[in-house]
Amino acid sequence: MRDAQPGAIYLRDYQPPAFFIERTELAFDLHEDHALVSACLHIRRNPAVTGGKPLELQGQQLELLSLAIDDRALSPDDYELDDACLRIRQVPDTFRLQSQCRIQPQNNTALEGLYKSRNMFCTQCEAEGFRKITWYLDRPDVMAVFDVTVEADATRYPVLLSNGNPLSLRALGNGRHRAHWHDPFPKPAYLFALVAGDLRSVDDRFVTASGREVSLHIYVEEKDLDKCDHALLSLKESMRWDETVYGREYDLDIFNIVAVDDFNMGAMENKGLNIFNSSCVLCSPEVTTDSEFQRVQAIVAHEYFHNWSGNRVTCRDWFQLSLKEGFTVFRDATFSADMGSPTVKRVAEVNDLRNTQFAEDAGPLAHPVRPESFIEISNFYTATIYEKGAEVVRMIHTLLGAQRFRAGSDLYFQRHDGQAVTCEDFVRAMEDASGVDLQQFRLWYSQAGTPVLSAAGAYDPVAQQFHLTLRQSCPPTPGQPVKLPMVIPVALGLLGSAGNLPLRLATDDPASAVQTHRVLVLNQPEQTFVFEQVSEAPVPALLRGFSAPVRLEYAYSSDDLRALMKREADGFVRWDAAQQYALRVIAQAQAAYTAGDAIDVESGYLEACGQLLHDPALDPALVAEMMTLPGETYLADLAAEAGGADVDAIHAARQAVRLAIATTHSEALQACYQRLQSTAPYAPDAAQTGARRLRNLCLDYLALGGPGGLALAATQFREATNMTDRLAALQSLAFHGRDDHSDAALQQFYRDWEHEPLVVNKWLQLQALVPVPDTLERVQGLLPHPAFDLHNPNKVRALIGGFANGNPVAFHRADGAGYRLLADKVTQLNALNPQLAARILEPLTRWRKYRSRGEQMRAVLVELSALPGLSPDVFEVLQKSLGD
Ligand code: TRP
Ligand code: ZN
Repeated sequence: MRDAQPGAIYLRDYQPPAFFIERTELAFDLHEDHALVSACLHIRRNPAVTGGKPLELQGQQLELLSLAIDDRALSPDDYELDDACLRIRQVPDTFRLQSQCRIQPQNNTALEGLYKSRNMFCTQCEAEGFRKITWYLDRPDVMAVFDVTVEADATRYPVLLSNGNPLSLRALGNGRHRAHWHDPFPKPAYLFALVAGDLRSVDDRFVTASGREVSLHIYVEEKDLDKCDHALLSLKESMRWDETVYGREYDLDIFNIVAVDDFNMGAMENKGLNIFNSSCVLCSPEVTTDSEFQRVQAIVAHEYFHNWSGNRVTCRDWFQLSLKEGFTVFRDATFSADMGSPTVKRVAEVNDLRNTQFAEDAGPLAHPVRPESFIEISNFYTATIYEKGAEVVRMIHTLLGAQRFRAGSDLYFQRHDGQAVTCEDFVRAMEDASGVDLQQFRLWYSQAGTPVLSAAGAYDPVAQQFHLTLRQSCPPTPGQPVKLPMVIPVALGLLGSAGNLPLRLATDDPASAVQTHRVLVLNQPEQTFVFEQVSEAPVPALLRGFSAPVRLEYAYSSDDLRALMKREADGFVRWDAAQQYALRVIAQAQAAYTAGDAIDVESGYLEACGQLLHDPALDPALVAEMMTLPGETYLADLAAEAGGADVDAIHAARQAVRLAIATTHSEALQACYQRLQSTAPYAPDAAQTGARRLRNLCLDYLALGGPGGLALAATQFREATNMTDRLAALQSLAFHGRDDHSDAALQQFYRDWEHEPLVVNKWLQLQALVPVPDTLERVQGLLPHPAFDLHNPNKVRALIGGFANGNPVAFHRADGAGYRLLADKVTQLNALNPQLAARILEPLTRWRKYRSRGEQMRAVLVELSALPGLSPDVFEVLQKSLGD
């Protein structure tokens, strides 16, 4: 047991800072076995805070060398110092605090603060990492102008970067050199960054709408210089898009991106110096898949967009994290939709939301978009803050319409430029600019849990009316047993036999134009909408474009679902109808499996799949999504609500439905596979990406179907000219092939790509995902492999994360060995990298969902909580998931 349990901090306890820092001068002296950090902070007492409070600065893992106020050295009697805080009781109202400390970047395996990634120095300060660099008011509402010098060996570290504009780079005569950077925009410490390394850059320029020239640079290792074009293009597209769609220009003369291999997250929006996980920048057709190309584009855009939504206007405190993250995800999602296929992008978002965020919202770590408390803020970079937060902004967009939303964002940026603000400030700007009352809507920020929207329709042929009753409820979540009704925008249409019917409500102004699409706003527990002059019994197409992040329930018949799949105008609803139909046949298969009966898949479902394959006029990308069955994790979530998930039955049922598709449609799958063959040079565009997606899905069904398909996969594996096709073929071989075949292909792949760490990670992950119980031994066998390294988060996520999140059959193995494997890695990572340890622990926290295995999972969590030296990160996750 730990002696001092980390405590929670609460939003309701927020106090403005007692001091401000106006200017921050930092001098770094980097060496192989230590770094010296000198800080001169220009501090001013906040006149609004009375009571003569002492100065309290955060600092961790710092070795104090000297401390002075206005050049007068302090003696140990003048201050109190512990492992988290430096307190000075007597300070003037305005003064300079000068400190010098020694830190150990070379031993920093937590990848927070200043650390070494291979041969380069880099930083990660969000959320509270700056306090591992020097003593500071490490909170986002303290914003300073930074002046930074970096000194290092000139041969090992020819490139020295920090935020803002470069002022000088000077040789010091002793083999070392020093760079000086100045960032004129006041910023919180979490946006500070520094990089020193032997890097090369790809350079370009961008002229802003008002004619200012910005120089753009992407810094990478020399061997990766040929993999920067896509990120650079994405950056320029993002810069232009933010000008066009939000009227936002870039504001410095230079914009730098640096790729680093060891990074806890995707990327970081430090002012003028974005630092990226190399997996989120580097791209080339030979080593990168289509979906990774899209991910790079989205993340480059996300970090760039933060320059306004996050940096120019930042967060007052970390409870407001979704203010910048939710809004910025909404912005990058709209950008990606504009750059590619909006429907396919929306389907991917909803899949992600259902698989990840809905599960989070239904589990022990559920929290509102604006949390009320936390122990460790690093644990709150969650799907709820990011993805649900983006859905909340999207609903505001839906309720206001594009024009009024833009007026709202203009007002928000103008009103709060240079400030640290709250989610409330964002909503108020939207209200003030639009005149729309969002009072009740604010519940989306404070209430956790996924609302259930249950709809019922009744057609009255005599009155020619369709009555649509909408009901909402929201399940209890930790600390929130009872919920109030929310504002739920429900976009819909009514599908008739010859297309969408006109939508007339009894309450409409008779002079207004009749539409076939509209948005109803549900803000009561239950409301009935009566549509008039409805000439036939319609099928309601509900929640078009997924207009709200809710679980929709409607008792569709199989005929209804087929009609929606085939004829509905909204692509999202067509896809969702296919998903619901698939859920239905999988549930039937599971019931048969559990009862020991033969599995028989409803013929109407198989026919609908056949029609999708046969129609060359359909968008291949959408067909592929419609023919991809819901994932096992999502199926487990749904089953959990109905009394407990049986992992093996879910897997068997899903496989049986896939096999039925494969055998019923082997000819159509073959024909589709041939039809989509292309000799065009590779491009990661929407058309090619969609075609490859469907073609490789056909290949996978064919490989599942038997030896002919496996032979096709083997050929494609040999002959592929891009990573998308090669990896897809390898996966089909590994998942469906006999051992000898698939092992040879896996070995070949490793020999071919050993020198490309990003490809090796895909190789690790693919093996972790093979859905058979003895994958556990395979994963164990890979742990000592030279390709694996517990210090590198990408490798941990690929092998351990892949196994625990993406392979239920092996992870939930009956003997509990999957749980013990994960617990063992969490134990090691708790000491090395607590952020990562807490993150990979997540699959175990869902123990309540699993019928027969839950107790075994819980026992492993209990064991972990007895570990000595638990980090606050892991402690918080354990405490919440064990529920005390
Ligand atoms: N602000 C970053 C983003 O979403 C998130 C991030 C990057 C982060 N690195 C981190 C958060 C490390 C916590 C810890 O763009
Ligand atoms: Zn972000």
